[in-house]
Amino acid sequence: MESPLCVSIFLVLCIFILSSAHGQSPGPEPFGRSHAVETGETLQETETRFLLFEDKTDKGCQLQLHHADTLQQCGFNASLPLVMIIHGWSFDGLLENWIWQMVDALKSPLVQPVNVVLADWITLAHQQYTIAIRKSRLVGQEVAALLQWLEESAQFSPSNVHLIGYSLGAHVSGFAGNYMGGKHKIGRITALDAAGPLFEGTAPSERLSPDDANFVDAIHTFTREHMGLSVGIKQPIAHYDFYPNGGTFQPGCHFLELYKDIAKYGLNAITKTIKCAHVRSVHLFIDSLLHPSMQSTAYLCSDMDSFSQGLCLSCRKSRCNTLGYHVRQEHRGKKSRKLFLVTRAQAPFKAYHYQFKIQFINQMETPGKPTFTMSLLGTKEEMQKVPITLGEGITSNKTYSFLLTLDLDIGELVMIKFKWDNSAVWTNVWNTVQIIIPWGREPHYSGLVPKSIRVMSGETQQRTTFCPENVDDLQLHPTQEKTFVRCEISSKKLKRKNR
Ligand SMILES: *[C@@H]1O[C@H](CO)[C@@H](O)[C@H](O)[C@H]1NC(C)=O
Ligand SMILES: *[C@@H]1O[C@H](CO)[C@@H](O)[C@H](O)[C@H]1NC(C)=O
Repeated sequence: MESPLCVSIFLVLCIFILSSAHGQSPGPEPFGRSHAVETGETLQETETRFLLFEDKTDKGCQLQLHHADTLQQCGFNASLPLVMIIHGWSFDGLLENWIWQMVDALKSPLVQPVNVVLADWITLAHQQYTIAIRKSRLVGQEVAALLQWLEESAQFSPSNVHLIGYSLGAHVSGFAGNYMGGKHKIGRITALDAAGPLFEGTAPSERLSPDDANFVDAIHTFTREHMGLSVGIKQPIAHYDFYPNGGTFQPGCHFLELYKDIAKYGLNAITKTIKCAHVRSVHLFIDSLLHPSMQSTAYLCSDMDSFSQGLCLSCRKSRCNTLGYHVRQEHRGKKSRKLFLVTRAQAPFKAYHYQFKIQFINQMETPGKPTFTMSLLGTKEEMQKVPITLGEGITSNKTYSFLLTLDLDIGELVMIKFKWDNSAVWTNVWNTVQIIIPWGREPHYSGLVPKSIRVMSGETQQRTTFCPENVDDLQLHPTQEKTFVRCEISSKKLKRKNR
C-alpha cells in the first residue's frame, strides 16, 4: 500500500520539476531583487487578471490597474477589507474547483463582509514548474502593483489586505509582500501548503517568510518526503506554522481510496489522490470559514512525536491557536512557531484532543506490548472501546502518557472503563504467575494495577484525575474491565464506607 503511493508521489514530483531536465535552472537573473521595485510607475497593465466577486453567483468582474472606473463597476467597497486568493502552479491550465468553494465560503453570511478577489495567473502558471516559479515573481510584482494603486487611488491601506496563496501561490504572496514592505506592509498572508520543490531551504527572500506581512500563517499538509523532495514545504515559513496530523500526509487521502477513485475518475484519479493531501490545506481553511462553532485548536510543539505523547496540549502563554481564518494574530516576532493538531478525515475536520496519563503499580514485569481498550463516558456522548497500546512492556510506578483524539465532543468526561484486551500471550503469562503463587495464604499476587488515570483536555484545558471505582479490587486481569470515576467521587465513597 505504501510503495504505490510513493511511486505516485514521485511521479508528481517529477512533473513538478520536469523542466530541470531542460536545463531550466532557476538562475539568478529573474530572481534579482534590485531592479524589481519599479512596480507602480512602470507597470501599466498586468498579465494577471484580478477578478472581484460581488455575490455568490457571479463569474467575477475584472479590476484593471489604473482604471478607477473598474473599481466602481465591479463594486469594490473600500471600507471593507480585501481578501485575495492566489492559486498555484497548474497542471492542466484550468482553474481548480476549490477556488470557487473558497470564494463562496468567504462570501458566506457566516463571515464578516470582505471584498473577495481572485488573482488569476493561470496562463503563466500553466508552464513547466521552474518557469512558473520565475513567473511567480512577476505575479507577485503585479499583485503589489494593484495594491499600491489601490492605496494611491482609493486610500486603501495594504494593512487591510489578506492574501491567501495555495502551493506556488503562497510564494507569489510572499513576493508581493516583499515588493510592498516598509510602511506599506500587507496585513496578512496565509500559505496553504506552500510549494516545496526549489523553495525548501532557500533564503527568506527567495520564498514566503514572516517578514512579508504583518502576520503570516501557514498550513502544511503534504510534506511527505520522497527522494529528498516534498510537494509542500516542510520548514516553517510563517509566524504560525500549522502541521495538521504532523503535516506529512492526511487522513482520508490514503492510497486505498485511489482504487475507488480510479473506478470513478479513471487515471485522473492519480493526480486527484496526490492532490488530496496537498489541497487538504485549502479545505481545512474553508472549513474554518463555514463552521464558526467548530474551530480547530492547534498546539505549540517541537515535533509530532512529542505531540503524540500528549505532551503539548497546554494553552498557557499563547501556546495554542486557532487553525484557519480566525487565527489569533498575536505573535509577530521573527521566529516561527510550529503548531500541531489531529483532524478528522472530512469536514467538519475538528477533532478533540486529550492527554491520558496512566500510572501502574505492579511488581510483575510485563514483557511485550499489552493492549487495552478504553470506553469513555461523557456528559454528551460516549465512546466505546478505543484501542490503546502503551509501547514497551509496562513497568512499575511508571506513568504512561499518550494522546487520544476523538471525532466528536463527548462533553465532560465522567467515567472511564479500562479493559485489558484478551491476548493469548497475556493469559499464558497470567496463568504462570498464578501457578507460582498458591503457597501464600492470601495470594496477594501482584498483577497489573492501574492506579490512576489523569486526563487533560486540550479543547477545554480541563484536568481531571480518575481513580478506581472499587478500591477493594484493584487487580486488572487479562480480558477484565475496571471502572474509573473522578477521584473526589471515589474518595467520598471510601469515606462513607469507612464510617
Ligand atoms: C460598504 O461596506 C460598508 C460596511 O459594511 C457598508 O456600510 C456600505 O453600505 C458598503 N457600501 C456599498 C456601496 O455597498
Ligand atoms: C511503587 O510505589 C509503591 C508505593 O507507591 C512502592 O511501595 C513500591 O515499592 C514501588 N515500586 C517500585 C518498583 O518502585
